[in-house]
Amino acid sequence: METKWDADRIENQKGKVVIVTGANCGIGYETALEMSRNGAEVILACRDVDRGMGAIQNIIEEIPKANLVMASLDLSDLNRIEKFSDQIHENYRKIDLLINNAGVMMDSLTMTKQGFEFHFGINHLGHFALTGHILDLLLVEGDSRVVNVASIAEKKAKIFWDDLNCERRKYSMWKNYSQSKLANLLFTFEFKRRFDSIGHSLKIVAAHPGLTATNLSRNVRKENQISDLLWRKMTQHQSIGALPTLYAAVGDVESGDYIGPDGIMEFRGYPTKVNSSRSARNVVSSRKLWEISEDLTGVEFNILA
Ligand SMILES: NC(=O)c1ccc[n+]([C@@H]2O[C@H](COP(=O)([O-])OP(=O)(O)OC[C@H]3O[C@@H](n4cnc5c(N)ncnc54)[C@H](OP(=O)(O)O)[C@@H]3O)[C@@H](O)[C@H]2O)c1
Repeated sequence: METKWDADRIENQKGKVVIVTGANCGIGYETALEMSRNGAEVILACRDVDRGMGAIQNIIEEIPKANLVMASLDLSDLNRIEKFSDQIHENYRKIDLLINNAGVMMDSLTMTKQGFEFHFGINHLGHFALTGHILDLLLVEGDSRVVNVASIAEKKAKIFWDDLNCERRKYSMWKNYSQSKLANLLFTFEFKRRFDSIGHSLKIVAAHPGLTATNLSRNVRKENQISDLLWRKMTQHQSIGALPTLYAAVGDVESGDYIGPDGIMEFRGYPTKVNSSRSARNVVSSRKLWEISEDLTGVEFNILA
């Protein structure tokens, strides 16, 4: 890949239908903006309708002809995910791109509607369930892609197999966030292996934005002023932070690739292919997590059976 790939290099996306989860702000917003600028129909899958509509208004101010749809999706509730998927099935015959972007970072232990720890439940299980529910629409004609937004936090992460939902351990935002981001990669690589084994060309690609100034870190920044100041110095603008996601979505990638910033320690920069941790490439863990995720969500990827 040439270095310094940016959003100006995105080719015409007319005719494509794209779902971006958590598109009302941050990296999801920038992703929706650039995909619409290049002609795609973008479904902004947001948990708060007003915030989603606000994002649509902002994009339309910049791109009056943007083709945008707001759809309510709360990844903290498996029933709401199913409802969202039903609406998508009612209105679309094919989805070209599913961008699993939404994410949370919580300073206290919070549980989803079905009792999963928030990071694991939203960042991983919610997106796992969503992908499984709309898989048939992604499989039409076979040239679609799924992009999972992970994080460098996965590098030091571990999966707490005997306490995935943090019911017995002391709560740590970092450990639980990191676990969910490692789960995003394990899901990506297991998905690739399963599709490769049946010879299907649907691609799944992971991306991470390095350190990007968005709302995500508000709970870290509110801890103290030093972390706030440090964070502002270290982070890049969200329009740059979204580039790895955009490259994963439209660039020249193979299924199973992982795209991140090309700068020192992958903190900042332009998209390039990056390596994941050894834990993320552990085949046994990937398979185990897949089976647990199917079990916990009740969503099976039947096409692969
Ligand atoms: N910023 C970084 O430095 C960084 C680094 C590594 C990875 N990432 C990853 O990048 C992705 C995007 O994060 P961001 O930095 O752009 O943060 P952000 O500005 O906080 O955006 C997160 C988005 O996710 C949405 N969301 C949260 N909970 C949801 C739920 N239950 N259902 C549906 N949507 C929900 C948020 O909606 P509301 O606005 O309604 O809360 C928001 O739209 C995340 O996966 C994050 O882990 C970010």
